[in-house]
Amino acid sequence: MRVKTLSLTQFRNYDQATITPGEGVTVFVGPNAQGKTNVLEALHLCCIGRSHRTSRDEELIRWGADAAKVHIETEQQDGTHEVTILLSRSQKKKKQVRIGSRSAERIGELMGHVCGVLFSPEDLQIVKSGPAERRRFIDMQLSQLHPAYFYALQRAQRALIQRNALLKEIAKRPSLAPTLDAWDEQLAAAGGDIARMRRHAVELLCETAEKTHASLTLGREALRLRYVSQVADAQDPAQALLARMRAARSEDLRRLTTTVGVHRDDILITIDDKDARTFASQGQQRSAVLALKLAQLDLAWKERGEAPVLMLDDVMSELDPSRRRQLLERIDRVQTFVTCTDISDLGGARHSAVYHVENGRLSL
Ligand SMILES: Nc1ncnc2c1ncn2[C@@H]1O[C@H](COP(=O)(O)OP(=O)(O)O)[C@@H](O)[C@H]1O
Ligand SMILES: [Mg+2]
Repeated sequence: MRVKTLSLTQFRNYDQATITPGEGVTVFVGPNAQGKTNVLEALHLCCIGRSHRTSRDEELIRWGADAAKVHIETEQQDGTHEVTILLSRSQKKKKQVRIGSRSAERIGELMGHVCGVLFSPEDLQIVKSGPAERRRFIDMQLSQLHPAYFYALQRAQRALIQRNALLKEIAKRPSLAPTLDAWDEQLAAAGGDIARMRRHAVELLCETAEKTHASLTLGREALRLRYVSQVADAQDPAQALLARMRAARSEDLRRLTTTVGVHRDDILITIDDKDARTFASQGQQRSAVLALKLAQLDLAWKERGEAPVLMLDDVMSELDPSRRRQLLERIDRVQTFVTCTDISDLGGARHSAVYHVENGRLSL
């Protein structure tokens, strides 16, 4: 896949900017807080309909403006794809997606038109932080590749909110208890789909990440990923979830929260069989994240049959020269967007265009 043009209108600190990247590496260089990450954020928004750094869309609209627009045109094996995202403060529909000239009814229709993998320093949290960060990582990846996953996630999230609200309601009016059945079923059905896909994706990611990591560490360390879930090994995860949910009902009613479900899932990341979250050094954690991100790229590439675009936000300066080289070797055939504060951060890597970023303005 290749991005032909990306336009930002009233997006973050941009009034209006259009980027026409080449095939290879496009660089955005400039001091801090000028708008480099904002460009990648706009591209990320086109991939899955949300920012990678905030869940509040209104933050993306330029201060003082009422609406923002991001438009992208990509070239793929099956032709040209055009996506427009409109964000508004005042309109009833706060986020609108257009595919070509057609208004999408659901955000999920966006998935697959633009596919990208973003790597930023905050990704270290995938290894260092709690399970929520790792779920977010796998959710972003799977949503983008499979709209069905995105919809299952939406269903599960809604059912979970409803079920938790109902648990509190039942505390006041116990006669409502039987109405939990319907939510249990919905939550288990959506959760079953999610568990199946997460399990499969983690297996595939593990295979690739393990190999990449071995080459990053010259074969000295072994990285592994394992899907951790209450129903990780279940033949029929939906059935298993339902059974567990029923068994946990009295506990849920006591704790006023849903204790069973894929919202408790995790991915265990180990280096030489030790939990990387607690036992790995900062350097080891960095290698693990790099391996994970490259595996994410590979997996998206394989599943789609063409390369996604790669976004590297400020990561080059954090890698030592050998890892930087390994990264750049791998991305030879991938259209890449790189941000840095100094062009020397690229370590002499080939690039096709350099945009200087200054206070929401781009110049070649
Ligand atoms: N909604 C917004 N409207 C206008 N400016 C914004 C908005 N959100 C962030 N900014 C500005 O964008 C800049 C940060 O941009 P960013 O792309 O993160 O910088 P960097 O170049 O360091 O990656 C800051 O100057 C911030 O004040
Ligand atoms: Mg930045």
